[in-house]
Amino acid sequence: TTDNKLAGKRVVVTAGGTREHLDPVRYIGNESSGKMGYAIAQAAVNMGAYVTLVSAPTRLTPPAEAEVIPVESTEEMRDAVVSAFQRSDVLVMAAAPADFRPVAVADQKIKKSADNDRLQVDLVKTPDILKAVAKVKQPGQFTVGFAAETQNLLAFANQKLMDKGVNMLVANDVSQAGIGFNGDQNQVTFLLPDQAPQKTPVLTKTAIAKLIMTKINDVWTV
Ligand code: PMT
Repeated sequence: TTDNKLAGKRVVVTAGGTREHLDPVRYIGNESSGKMGYAIAQAAVNMGAYVTLVSAPTRLTPPAEAEVIPVESTEEMRDAVVSAFQRSDVLVMAAAPADFRPVAVADQKIKKSADNDRLQVDLVKTPDILKAVAKVKQPGQFTVGFAAETQNLLAFANQKLMDKGVNMLVANDVSQAGIGFNGDQNQVTFLLPDQAPQKTPVLTKTAIAKLIMTKINDVWTV
């Protein structure tokens, strides 16, 4: 057994799918339930960490011990994460932030009319949160990204490990039924620079979260 480096440390966890509004009552969203991120927040609390949970809208109850920062859009999540990360030791980005948002948000509910069978929506890229974090990251801080992929899991995930400036990447095959988005179970592969990929069995998100936090504790050099 190794000792617990996470006790008393500050850990930021993100969870859920961000929403990008089209008008006051409509948004572009995704299938993330927040379950993976909330389980990671709980696992970090259980290891004695002070946890800040930056959460997109979910139906879940956060761990009572966590400080919760509710956000809606990817830009709001970026601002909350960058600010919390600068007074923290570890970041785990389990959220599914929208990669695109509508260029304009209508002030009023968009109406349909008899002569308009089509509506064009122009989208623009949102900021990459992990890349913003990489710019302020100090030596000793540890960051973990996820890669949710429907094909070429390890190739795409390895690319994200390099591109996003993270210490560790958790690859999540979201094409498999019963794991990934929304369910209670997951199966992931840990990618670390210069280490062979390590695949977990299919387990509950609670158990996967514990493996993720244990892995961080094992490889983090404070
Ligand atoms: O919430 P659940 O229903 O429990 O589902 C869990 C999950 C499938 C959402 C989770 O396990 C997962 O894989 N989360 C990452 C989802 C995602 O956005 O993956 P990605 O491959 O598109 O992004 C790669 C990494 O960059 C992720 O850590 C993501 O949080 C981050 N990112 C993405 C977009 C963006 N604008 N900024 C980012 O930092």
